[in-house]
Amino acid sequence: MFVKALFSIFLIFSSACILIGAGTTIKPYKNSSKIESLLNQMTLDEKIGQLVQYSGTEPTGPEGKIIDIETEIKKGKVGSLLNVIGIKNIRKMQHIAVKQSRLGIPLIFGLDVVHGYKTIFPVPLAMASSWDMDAIEKAAKIAAVEASASGIQWTFAPMVDIARDPRWGRIVEGAGEDPFLGAAVAKAQIKGFQGDNTAHFSTVLACAKHYIAYGAAMAGRDYNNVDMSIRTLWEIYMPPFQAAIDAGVGSIMSSFNDVNGIPMTGNKKLLNTVLRDRLGFKGFVVSDWNSVAEMIPHGYAKNRYQAAKLALDAGLDMDMVSDVYQQELAKLLKNKQITMKQIDKAVRRVLKAKFDVGLFDNPFIYFNEERGKALVLTKEHRDAARDIARKSMVLLKNKDNLLPLNKNIKTIALIGPLADNQKDLLGPWCARGNKKDVITIMQGIKTVSPKTTILYSKGCEINTSSTKLFKEAVDAAKKADVIIAAIGEAEDMSAEAHSRADIDLPGVQIQLLKELKKTGKPIVAVLMNGRPLTINWTNDNIPAILETWFLGIEAGNAIADVLFGDYNPSGKLTVTFPHSVGQIPIFYNHRQTGRPHIGDDNHFVSKYLDIPNTPLYPFGYGLSYTTFRYSDIKLNKKNLKSGETLTASVNITNIGKIQGKETVQLYIQDLFASITQPVKKLIGFKQVTLNPGETKEISFVIKPSNMEILNQDMKKVIEPGDFKVFIGTNSIDTKFAKFTVNEK
Ligand code: GLC
Repeated sequence: MFVKALFSIFLIFSSACILIGAGTTIKPYKNSSKIESLLNQMTLDEKIGQLVQYSGTEPTGPEGKIIDIETEIKKGKVGSLLNVIGIKNIRKMQHIAVKQSRLGIPLIFGLDVVHGYKTIFPVPLAMASSWDMDAIEKAAKIAAVEASASGIQWTFAPMVDIARDPRWGRIVEGAGEDPFLGAAVAKAQIKGFQGDNTAHFSTVLACAKHYIAYGAAMAGRDYNNVDMSIRTLWEIYMPPFQAAIDAGVGSIMSSFNDVNGIPMTGNKKLLNTVLRDRLGFKGFVVSDWNSVAEMIPHGYAKNRYQAAKLALDAGLDMDMVSDVYQQELAKLLKNKQITMKQIDKAVRRVLKAKFDVGLFDNPFIYFNEERGKALVLTKEHRDAARDIARKSMVLLKNKDNLLPLNKNIKTIALIGPLADNQKDLLGPWCARGNKKDVITIMQGIKTVSPKTTILYSKGCEINTSSTKLFKEAVDAAKKADVIIAAIGEAEDMSAEAHSRADIDLPGVQIQLLKELKKTGKPIVAVLMNGRPLTINWTNDNIPAILETWFLGIEAGNAIADVLFGDYNPSGKLTVTFPHSVGQIPIFYNHRQTGRPHIGDDNHFVSKYLDIPNTPLYPFGYGLSYTTFRYSDIKLNKKNLKSGETLTASVNITNIGKIQGKETVQLYIQDLFASITQPVKKLIGFKQVTLNPGETKEISFVIKPSNMEILNQDMKKVIEPGDFKVFIGTNSIDTKFAKFTVNEK
């Protein structure tokens, strides 16, 4: 059981209370009171209240019982609200907390501002594909400016879960499969959200989620169990959280899943011991939606009373909407099952966060309507959205250089369920984004290539069996010079609770492509999707394929910019595309095995008989309208002592006809070690823009920490021996060089 606030009733009621409140003898609010002195004044109910979060009128989880939230706030029994929409509603609730509760402790308001507040940026998996940390940071900064101008002080982002299973819908919310890249993206997003001063009214507190290993849900089925070696946990899933903590993230959200049988919301070892003692996390931990109560269906807590104890003992500070803390902590304390010290510790963390976001200095600083109107959806913000959208697209195929299209092209047949679509292009978790603000592909082409005639036909729905629109689409295609097929998933086919077992194009979209192909016209497939798709037929039969994910508010303009060559695509995949669901989990940084599959003629090797034993598209992959040539790698030394650095350099030449940006990737392999190591591990990347014919030298300094492994005692060590360093345009097409690390 948990609660949801019904604000429409409360709003009428609270406006009356504000008038009444003005005359009451409520203790005048004491600005910037020290946390300890405040704590000493608090009753038990008020302390527990700080650990309680309720939801507003747009729940982001299974709904529950309604309570009189306004009365609870007045009693000082609420610490935070999420999903309260609109400055007016937020300010009125804050007014009740500050003016009508005994101690006037302000509420902290949270929202899932994941890839934008009103100016919606590309989904995180798309932004990660830009590999442009400055652009990613800027997007988070703009999201914070807009959210904080609208009454929000706390975002439940970034989602830093590593994901190696594209059946899992939440892969769209993160940065993909690699720990190094995931860590870099986490740092950039947190810096963008929190800035240098979380107390400034233009920043918000970030929340790294979902701790931990949520992306490893068995079979890619959301909320499913996680069975994982501690080694994999530390090598793959922990680094982005370590990076988030090092970047000063103010809060962390515990995940729904268990890890090896212990639900994360009550996982004392991973929450208290690891997160706080080992990784040094100083902020507060909020549960995911109702996950405190869900330890009962997990079979870990017998009842809510035990769930409350398990969570508090584990170090969970704030209970999101389950109401278990509200109802059980006082009883547990009375029965000496928990201590006031434990409660005080959690309350201090929450009060400190409120202090850190400036709420104790001015609880109304975030509620400035003029600022809200002035700072939202500005041209500068839209331009930034278009810029990162351009950079997020990945060119998967471009046979015979069909792309870029010439702006003199007379007629385009724009076909597909996503061609003139606004809602889906926002992507999931689009906060206060409004589909009416989205530029469609249709609109984008009209803007970027105004002389071109567009013949539009939907062709089919995203996910139905009807082919009744095929004829209209084929007729349009026959009249055109080129077909642009805008195909893919609906935005609600990925993200939370949206796992798919079949991850090819849904509905009859492949059949539509087959009918369009029969016209003999050149086809460009523009993909919009929240996960890798097993698009084998499309890859075999369609000459040009552009992965655009869900690019947000400026999608149409950015896609047109790339289609017509105003921007040369530079994105690189951060997740592996499998040929088949049967290959999952498939990821580039795998171990070798004792019988690696090297070529097709070996029999007794690790392979499938019935599908290709390679990815459809590998991690780090992305084409350009130009071509980059890599020289062999130069090392400044071939032998080094343990603890020394190494410099690896390549010359990169643009041998094509147009300027392009390349993301040069650096990988390492420890060839022999006391724990077998991945065939490749990303340890660096640099972006370089080259004009036609231009050559630049790209150098990487490989630090001792890049050569470390976790040994059998789970200690970071450098083991002497042979290494390979790889530099290339993706995780497969690389140059390599060998070096040896000797004893000190
Ligand atoms: C949801 C999601 C989480 C989100 C939270 C609040 O269930 O799992 O990512 O931040 O609840 O909306």
